[in-house]
Amino acid sequence: MTCRFLLSDLEHGIFTARYAKEACLQQLSKAIGSLILLQYTKMKRKLAKPFRESGIAREEFFVTSKVWTSELGYEKTKIAFENTLSRLGLDYLDLYLIHWPVNAQLNAESWRAMEELYNDGRIRAIGVSNFSEEDLLALFETAMIIPAVNQVEFHPFYQREELHKFLDVNKIKLEAWYPLANGSEALFSNPVLNKIAKAHGRDVSQIILRWHMQKNVIAIPRSSNNSHIKNNISIWDFELTVAEMNEIEKLDTGKELYERF
Ligand SMILES: NC(=O)c1ccc[n+]([C@@H]2O[C@H](COP(=O)([O-])OP(=O)(O)OC[C@H]3O[C@@H](n4cnc5c(N)ncnc54)[C@H](OP(=O)(O)O)[C@@H]3O)[C@@H](O)[C@H]2O)c1
Repeated sequence: MTCRFLLSDLEHGIFTARYAKEACLQQLSKAIGSLILLQYTKMKRKLAKPFRESGIAREEFFVTSKVWTSELGYEKTKIAFENTLSRLGLDYLDLYLIHWPVNAQLNAESWRAMEELYNDGRIRAIGVSNFSEEDLLALFETAMIIPAVNQVEFHPFYQREELHKFLDVNKIKLEAWYPLANGSEALFSNPVLNKIAKAHGRDVSQIILRWHMQKNVIAIPRSSNNSHIKNNISIWDFELTVAEMNEIEKLDTGKELYERF
């Protein structure tokens, strides 16, 4: 769900707008079939208060956060994790990721810390983000636990077939950031996607997110717009045909959109 990214973004201070929190909590509410819509009057970086006040039980939240590159290393990762939990006012995370690989040694040290936290029941699943096949192979040298997910850029214009196959073979779930290509006009106006959307009486975003689902990829779209959020989570009652899936596969450009820091 979007809130995974929103949580992570708030942690890193990318989003501070109150709309991010509202969108996240609205999604949480919808995910458990409730109609709670929360409004906030003050902008706050921390999510602890809105979480607490939402009335939504902790087990209904799926909270992901990430270890940033400057926090890699055994001790630093443990400290970063405790800081994250205390800022959020939570006592466990559902998923904790290494945000970007730095080098094999630091990745491995952080991973060891995360494995311990996992074994202690402080995190329900651990994973990585932006790891290549080489980064993962290096991690496998010392890892006791295989990452649950690898969160990477993935959308119809960047389909990463080789990496996807490698992850499948190793039972690592591909989790897509930029599933809607960052809201790219080129994607939303694409004739193939619009044709398929028309055939199903759906929006282009729904076709794209359904495509992710049928490819066995977890999409985590971001939106602060209520009607977009509603559409984005209404993709369970239709199916793309094999021919449509193949048509979308042909849209791959092999090029990432994201410009690295
Ligand atoms: N793991 C990583 O290393 C990494 C790296 C870079 C970025 N990211 C994450 O990726 C996210 C940024 O990607 P993103 O969120 O831009 O990707 P996205 O989910 O592909 O695109 C979001 C954009 O799509 C629009 N949108 C969403 N639903 C829509 C709909 N139904 N119809 C029309 N437009 C719609 C949103 O606008 P509205 O708000 O108006 O709906 C927003 O502008 C951030 O959360 C960031 O943290 C992660």
